[in-house]
Amino acid sequence: MNILGIETSCDETSASIVRNGRVVLSNIVATSLKDHQKYGGIIPEIASRRQLEFINIVTTRALTAAGLSLKQLDAVAVTESPGLIGSLVVGRSFAHSLSFALGIPLVKVNHIEAHVYAGYLSDKGDERSDPSREFPLPAVGLVVSGGHSSLFYIKDFTSFRIFGQTRDDAAGEAYDKVARILGLGYPGGPVIDKLARSVKENDIKFPCSPMAGTNDFSFSGIKTSVLYYTQRNTKTGFSVEKVANAFQESVVNIIVKKSIEACHKKKTGSLLVGGGVAANSSLRERLLEQAAAEGIKVRFPSLPLCMDNAAMVAGLAYHLI
Ligand code: KG4
Ligand code: ZN
Repeated sequence: MNILGIETSCDETSASIVRNGRVVLSNIVATSLKDHQKYGGIIPEIASRRQLEFINIVTTRALTAAGLSLKQLDAVAVTESPGLIGSLVVGRSFAHSLSFALGIPLVKVNHIEAHVYAGYLSDKGDERSDPSREFPLPAVGLVVSGGHSSLFYIKDFTSFRIFGQTRDDAAGEAYDKVARILGLGYPGGPVIDKLARSVKENDIKFPCSPMAGTNDFSFSGIKTSVLYYTQRNTKTGFSVEKVANAFQESVVNIIVKKSIEACHKKKTGSLLVGGGVAANSSLRERLLEQAAAEGIKVRFPSLPLCMDNAAMVAGLAYHLI
């Protein structure tokens, strides 16, 4: 079954064709990120206008790259929500029209659930060579992105139950806001990740609320601690690398601790991680190491599939249909 996925929830416009919910035949992503950078964040009106310009192009390219024609598609899948409404509506109208014109089913997919699914996808050619791709369910799903930080219980891919989430900022949002405080531009995650890695010893520490006794996260307090630290030390100066490192240490520690705790609580040895922050090198390293020590298997998507993409939408749609 060849499913065309369409993803337009924010500033990326993506089309992808995934075979049998697993093999990514093509995954084309266009982004309007550069148009937003001078404002330090996404401007919804600009994002939706760019979606309109890109949607046809990425879809045509996805078909060409997969070597398929429209007639060879079995279904169209689209991100239904959550996201910026002006951006979502472009993908939704496009996918509805295409499914109507081709007389094939339309599958509506939740963006956050699709992020969790991304770890199940494999590239063309490696579908048979990697048996570890079979990942046992039920699992705990962790999504850490620019808009969400949530924990799910996943019985199967048609049943996602949310049991923990952030009470304030999402993890990626905290990275972006701290980067803005430090004058590092947008998005903040990749640059903080890189700077943090250059620090070997650090005397700075920022507290990150453990939200003890809950499955929830809170990342706004640590962002404020970073702000106060930089204000206190403006005159004397401070090491941006060390601040980035201390911030990342705390955030990663909390995410690792709470996800492992969640697996124990839900009595599962499987953890699926997705979302932009899942690309973080320290989180990947630390979570794999600490979870393995507790007998928990962790699955991260490949780096490009951590970010917004349509392959995760087409992949999850296979199970929904
Ligand atoms: O999943 P995504 O592409 O879009 C949303 O659905 O939000 O995630 C984007 C977020 C941004 O906040 C960005 O700063 C963060 O992911 N991010 C990272 C890294 N790469 C991207 N955060 C930490 N470390 C990274 N390496
Ligand atoms: Zn996303």
